[in-house]
Amino acid sequence: MYTEQVMDHFQNPRNMGEVEKPDGVGEVGNPQCGDVMRITIKVDDDERIEDVKFKTLGCGAAIATSSMVTEMAKGKTLQEAEEITKKAVAEALGGLPPQKMHCSNLASDGLKKAIEDYRSRHKDK
Ligand code: FES
Repeated sequence: MYTEQVMDHFQNPRNMGEVEKPDGVGEVGNPQCGDVMRITIKVDDDERIEDVKFKTLGCGAAIATSSMVTEMAKGKTLQEAEEITKKAVAEALGGLPPQKMHCSNLASDGLKKAIEDYRSRHKDK
């Protein structure tokens, strides 16, 4: 039911944890199942995501998509990172079963929230 990439990111999640002194924090919950995710980002002077980590209390698909979204976001500008859709995350994992597509919301929404948080802290820029 799951692709090799999903299993790999689920069993060996990348960037798990929390960045030190984050510039932005995003926390999201999935209303369909109650799973939660927290994502922290470190942003450099050129508004690029220098580091990004996640903590997800959720199903395997949520962990795999969280892991994948951190890999996709790292090194991107905030604008580029904001454009990462849940569909793109699922595709990068070789697809998710239809009944698990909602799990990829957490990853892309969490990242967007962390970017929003960064922006709200740097409104003067
Ligand atoms: Fe909750 Fe997958 S079942 S995120």
